[in-house]
Amino acid sequence: MMAKTISVTIPKNVPNHIAIIMDGNGRWAKKRGLPRLAGHRAGTENLRRVIRACVEFGVKFLTIYAFSTENWGRPTEEVEGLMHILEEVIDKEIHELKQEGVQLRHIGRLEQLNPQLREKVLRSVEITKDNDRLTLCIAWNYGGRDEIVCAIRKMIEDGVQPKDINDDMVSNYLFTAGLPDPDMVIRTSGEMRISNFLIWQASYAEWYVTNTLWPDFDREELLKAIISFSERDRRYGRLSNCNE
Ligand code: IPE
Ligand code: IPE
Ligand code: MG
Repeated sequence: MMAKTISVTIPKNVPNHIAIIMDGNGRWAKKRGLPRLAGHRAGTENLRRVIRACVEFGVKFLTIYAFSTENWGRPTEEVEGLMHILEEVIDKEIHELKQEGVQLRHIGRLEQLNPQLREKVLRSVEITKDNDRLTLCIAWNYGGRDEIVCAIRKMIEDGVQPKDINDDMVSNYLFTAGLPDPDMVIRTSGEMRISNFLIWQASYAEWYVTNTLWPDFDREELLKAIISFSERDRRYGRLSNCNE
């Protein structure tokens, strides 16, 4: 059967930075009578499609929430499986990502990961650092509160004076230093919560929640989200341009 192609015009104002809470892998697997890890594998496969679509649509930054500081509370088998999948993905994909012009970044704490995985993540970041087609930022062992705690600790260690603290300084002490704030946060699988993701950075992001489970969130689904974004009126507390 021929693949169904939907030709929809890509809007002009594509978000510069999209952040995704990739949720619903477990439910995707359950619906098929498969183990949860099969859902995580399908979710990982899907990520390749979404990365490709981001490049096609001209998105410059993609941040993905892949493992939260709270996900350590899952059964050991699932946590270990997820760590293993990350390692495998790096081994299998890093050269292609490098060739495609993708720059890898990591946000979160690496020190709790096993040394071999930690090294792999650091090396992937290092070897792709000159790429600029798409920055793919992986939130792994990431928590928004943990990030803020780390930032406060570091500011105190650096002897920062209270009068010198402002929004920009705080942003520069976060794991995301140097990255623009996300313009849109997408959450798949229908949950209406932030789950400790980019709680500082997403203060004015547009939200898009879909019931589609992450492994099924394909190019067309991403395009729908981008179209929805393009129709929003971002007021930042001011008045709409049309009302001036
Ligand atoms: C998201 O899918 C991936 C991770 C949190 C690692 P889930 O594993 O949370 O899937 P559901 O929410 O149980 O369906
Ligand atoms: C958020 O999903 C974390 C990731 C997608 C990595 P969760 O499934 O862990 O979030 P909750 O538990 O539903 O809030
Ligand atoms: Mg979930």
